[in-house]
Amino acid sequence: MPAAFKIAVEGAGEATCYEGERALVAMERAQSFGRLKNLPYKLPVGCRRGGCGICRARVLSGAYRKDLMSQAHISEEESEAGLVLSCSIYPLSDIELRIEPPQVASKTKTATTSEEK
Ligand code: FES
Repeated sequence: MPAAFKIAVEGAGEATCYEGERALVAMERAQSFGRLKNLPYKLPVGCRRGGCGICRARVLSGAYRKDLMSQAHISEEESEAGLVLSCSIYPLSDIELRIEPPQVASKTKTATTSEEK
């Protein structure tokens, strides 16, 4: 039986994450079983491959390994400060994390009014 680690999601509850499993997958499962009941919204999920940045979280304690993450969404400085994309980390111990608001780059142009032209 694979090892299992606890993911304590700040203010929301706990998830069980099996060895080699992505933190996001474990948290989604926990939410579907009602174990993250204090999370007032559905977990933000997008590409699931470290590319869109919607699943940002901050690891507050614990060990993990990580796949490549888009540096457009997690800079090197942020990574050193514990910011991660939860779809791209694999806990290696019990961890504690906080879900962070996603940083979504706006691709829409600002409309100009006729007075600005
Ligand atoms: S779901 Fe897209 S980066 Fe995690």
